Amino acid sequence: MSDWINAVAETDLLPGQHIVVEVEDAAILLVNLDGEYYALEDICTHDGSEISSGCMVDGSFECPRHGARFDIKTGEVTAPPAYEPVDTFPVQVTDGIVQVRDDRWD
Ligand code: FES
Repeated sequence: MSDWINAVAETDLLPGQHIVVEVEDAAILLVNLDGEYYALEDICTHDGSEISSGCMVDGSFECPRHGARFDIKTGEVTAPPAYEPVDTFPVQVTDGIVQVRDDRWD
């Protein structure tokens, strides 16, 4: 089973902010959306760009390259040209530290 990775202190990831965390060779986009934390793979399913270079729009994260959007909570596509969702990852908070793990191969 995959290990939880300490990503960031809660105080360093405020609502509306995001960071990228490297977890076992995966780049994970960690987002604080209205006080809740969510984690998405930082690879656009349209053509491989880093989604994290984009911005949050109405609960989605917009890829800067061609404008595809992904639901921050579910990874589902909310705007084309992507049509495949991005992977999402479990997040927890322990002693004020936001933790994430890559459970895709558990
Ligand atoms: S690479 Fe993300 S929308 Fe095209």
